[in-house]
Amino acid sequence: MENLLETKNLRKRFGGLVAVDGVNFSLSRGELRSIIGPNGCGKTTFFNLVTGKIKPTGGQVYYEGEDITNLPIHRISQKGIARKFQVPSIFGTMSVYENVRVPFFSDQKRHSMFVGRSIQRESHDQIMAILREVRLEQKANEISDHLSHGEKQWLEIGMALANKPNLLLLDEPTGGMTLGETRATVGLIKRISADLNISILVIEHDISFVREIESKVTVMYKGQIIHEGTFEEIQKDKTVREIYLGRGHKPC
Ligand SMILES: Nc1ncnc2c1ncn2[C@@H]1O[C@H](COP(=O)(O)OP(=O)(O)O)[C@@H](O)[C@H]1O
Ligand SMILES: [Mg+2]
Repeated sequence: MENLLETKNLRKRFGGLVAVDGVNFSLSRGELRSIIGPNGCGKTTFFNLVTGKIKPTGGQVYYEGEDITNLPIHRISQKGIARKFQVPSIFGTMSVYENVRVPFFSDQKRHSMFVGRSIQRESHDQIMAILREVRLEQKANEISDHLSHGEKQWLEIGMALANKPNLLLLDEPTGGMTLGETRATVGLIKRISADLNISILVIEHDISFVREIESKVTVMYKGQIIHEGTFEEIQKDKTVREIYLGRGHKPC
């Protein structure tokens, strides 16, 4: 099976610090994958390189077999890579429904002469389907600022889905959530992965999240991939135990 995303010897240097150090990574179509590693190990920088937010000092990024390393960020996002940041960036004064509608609206503006009732109806159905997917259907008309912290994170996942991505990147989606919200988020991500046939790459440093999501796991340490496998496999690895599962969360 052709890989959806691949990186070859990807590197990013910030002055004297090598944040991403020769990463060879691949993700299949439709795959759900977790990336774990202590704070400061280069996980977010890796996402920044894949999405084109920053440019690498070396190596390549391939998406659907095409070298996208030097494409500007908006061209990469147009190819179907959507991202949810660590800090939610929703429009607080707008309703939940309106937030998810934004990407549809900008899509339609391009063909505004042809926007008829049937297209509006179609987007409405798609928006409601997304809200169902992220369990916010009942809150469609609520002002987004009034949502709980967890619900805001789900709304942002919904906004990312409204861009109809093939690849969804989630950076610590359970940050600051309660235990209940974290559990619900695991269920939500698994459901999206099963229902929508998109690839999902999720960064987490919470080990119980990674166990529950039951995907293949990539472990990053000091800018490198040090292990890949099932949760059970990575748990057995001596280095992983020492640096990650051992005494607390040692930063990189
Ligand atoms: N724009 C930047 N300029 C300088 N150093 C950076 C920048 N972004 C990240 N870093 C450094 O790169 C390392 C990896 O950071 P990051 O990718 O955010 O780690 P993680 O997401 O795994 O916690 C850290 O030491 C961080 O301080
Ligand atoms: Mg990070």
